[in-house]
Formats: sequence, structure tokens, C-alpha cells
Amino acid sequence: MLIITNAAELATCTSGYKGPKIGKDFRDCGIIKNGALAVMGEKIVAVGSTERILRRFPPRRGDHIIDASGKIVMPGFVDCHTHAVYAGSRAEEYRAKLGGVSYADAHKKRGGIFLTVAATRSATVDTLYRSARNTLSRMAACGTTTVEIKSGYGLSTESELRILRVIQELARSGPLDVAATFLGAHTVPLEYEHDRASYIRMVVNTMLPAIKKEGLAEYCDVFCDPLGFTPGEARKILTAAMRHGLRVRVHAEQTRRFGGMRVAAEFGASSADHCDFARTGDIRLLRTAGTTAVLFPGVQLHLMEWEKRGRMRARAEIIKKAGVPLALATDHNPGSSPIYSLKLIADLGMRFFGLTYEECLNAITINAAHALDRGDMLGSLEAGKQADILIADAPTIAEYLHAVGDGALVYVIKKGRVLFPRRGALR
Ligand code: NIG
Ligand code: FE
Repeated sequence: MLIITNAAELATCTSGYKGPKIGKDFRDCGIIKNGALAVMGEKIVAVGSTERILRRFPPRRGDHIIDASGKIVMPGFVDCHTHAVYAGSRAEEYRAKLGGVSYADAHKKRGGIFLTVAATRSATVDTLYRSARNTLSRMAACGTTTVEIKSGYGLSTESELRILRVIQELARSGPLDVAATFLGAHTVPLEYEHDRASYIRMVVNTMLPAIKKEGLAEYCDVFCDPLGFTPGEARKILTAAMRHGLRVRVHAEQTRRFGGMRVAAEFGASSADHCDFARTGDIRLLRTAGTTAVLFPGVQLHLMEWEKRGRMRARAEIIKKAGVPLALATDHNPGSSPIYSLKLIADLGMRFFGLTYEECLNAITINAAHALDRGDMLGSLEAGKQADILIADAPTIAEYLHAVGDGALVYVIKKGRVLFPRRGALR
């Protein structure tokens, strides 16, 4: 048995309802002072005050006891949107960005996503796997214990399937939980630029059946955007995806308002992601559809979209007021967000969107878990849930989140197993 005791604060992030946190519940991360929890195998068996837990589970020989005095305990972070399988780097392209070239202009000049597609297509499976595994290790060192990964840098049947097989291997080899998403509709590849309809036919008639046959994905995502696919094209692809038993996610209103939120709502998507240019009416549609809005302050940071700050702050307010669950994610990818750390995303969620400490923590734990339809197993510390637990060297949750960046994390525990023990302060 693993028993963690004496936490100065233990944030359970338990939802007041069955679903994700909204309204008043979203502003509360369920703090227990002098908290403790007990773990048996891969599961949490009890959470409460140290006194209660020790009375119920008096330590026996062989138990692993972690004294979390002066530290905080919280759920493992859930990154519900990443593009973590790719080859090549966009570091050189970023020089142009620093010189003022926009994301959309780089794409139109056949840079951006197309650069990564070319590098990914020519990489070996082994290279892709090693690189993604390295990415996942870096994420885990920052507290991520579950990650969603999209394909989308292949854009041919063979290459998309290869990427999905790499994702499947990452899921199989652990230790992180991985949710696989097919994003063959990321953008129209250059060889089909004058025949988009044929590419879409290939996604529908060849890629999706092959994915279904091999059981390679849980979700289908579409980049519904002037740089990606129209709402009509997205509907065609998502209809086919649902026929093949996949659930839906949508990259919506990222570079301009284009109708992606409406598509997400129509298909009862698990998430609508980005939402930068969404209007109040678009956001309200998500509420009835049961769709989570996922925001990416890291994209704003990396693309230096300072002019969006006011708009994104207002967007977050509207999402909360509409009673739509809000989650934050890295959107890790080589172009718009080479970011590994969900802690940094929470830091930015506060500074860019005006979210509170508690809201940010809920947005990268329980609400992100619900965005991956795993809210019943992950995202909060409660009896019966998977033992994905973080311990950080800070006296309160507020102190932990107030300090910008990583470094305070001392333990990352996945399914009851310690992944990263680190020393706290230097002695
Ligand atoms: O979510 N917008 C589409 N896809 C990614 C970026 C991909 C890239 O630039 O390589 C995103 O931001
Ligand atoms: Fe994305």
C-alpha cells in the first residue's frame, strides 16, 4: 500500500456533479488541509484528513509512506490536446515569425504544417517513436500523466496509419495513458491542392475504414478553418468517422470564425478546441451538446498574439457564464506550441485569460479528463479512481501556481507507481 500523509493542502478536484466542473464548482478545487490518501495497486482507496486515513490504514511493514509535510498533493495533469508525433523542427521557421511573418502566411507559403508533413513522411517509424517517447517523458516530468495525441502530419493513408501505429505503441508501452485521435483532416496536402474532393474521398473511403479495421483511433478531429477544411467538408468526414464508431473533436475558429463550433455542437463533440474567434452564440451551442471548450494560452504565447489577449479573456468569461466546461491544454506541436508543460499552460491561463488558481487546476485535471471521456477514472483524487498523483514543494496550491514555471514538482505517480522522485529544496 502507498500512503501519502500530512499534505499541507491536498486538492481533490472532485466534481460536484457527475460531469465536468462548471459554475461555482469550477472555482473550487476541493482542498483538504493536512490531507492524506491511501493507494492500493493502481487505485486510490481513500482520501481525507491525515488523522482519518492513518486511523483507517495504520501503516504496516512493507507499506510505502510518503510524508508530504509542507507540500501539496494534486491529481496528475491531463493534456487533452497534443500533436506529439512528428519529425523535424520549426526552429528556423520561427526566425521569420520573430521578424513578423504570421502563422497563416507561413502556411500559405507552404511552410508551417507542410514543413512538418515533409519531415514526418520521410522519417522512420523508429525515429518517430523515439522522438515522441522523449516528448512524453518531458511532459511527464512536468506532471502530465495522461495525454491525447493526434495524427495529422502524414496526410497520406500510409503515413497517417504509420503515425497512428506509433501512437498505439506509445499507449501500449506506457506508462502514460494515451488517447489516440485521427487528424487526417489537418490540412489538404500539397499534392491534392487542386483536387480537395479527392483527398476528402480518400479520408472517408480509405483512411477511416483502415483505422477502424486496425482499431487505431478513439477520436476523429478536423481542422475546421480557412487553412484546413470547410464546415461542409468537416461534416462529411465526421459523419463517416461516427459511422466507424469514432467520437469527435474539432479545431474550431482558430484563425477566424468559420463555423467549427457549430459543427462540434451538431456532432456532440467531446471537445471544441481553440475557440479564439467564437461568438457568444457559438459558445452557447456547446452547452446543450455537452462539449468541453479547450483553450490554448501557449499558442498565444508562442505565436505572440498579444492583440488577442482582451478577446481571449472575454472568451473565457463567456464560456464560464454559459455553463460550458472549460479545459486548458498544451496543443503541443512543433509550429504553434512547442510547449511540454501543463503547469506553464496553467500559469498562462491565469495571466492571459484571468482564470483563478483553482479554475486553472481544474482545467488541467478533472475538466481535461472529461474532455477525453475519462472523467470517471481520471482527473481527481477520490476513492476508486486511478492513482495518478503529483506532489509539489509548495505550502499551498496558490503558492504553487503563483510561481511561474516548473521545478516545484517532487513526485509524479502514475497508477500507483512513482515515475519521478525528485529532491525538494537543496540541503
Ligand atoms: O492546433 N491548427 C492546426 N494545427 C496545430 C498547429 C499545427 C502546426 O502548426 O504544425 C494547432 O495549432
Ligand atoms: Fe491542435
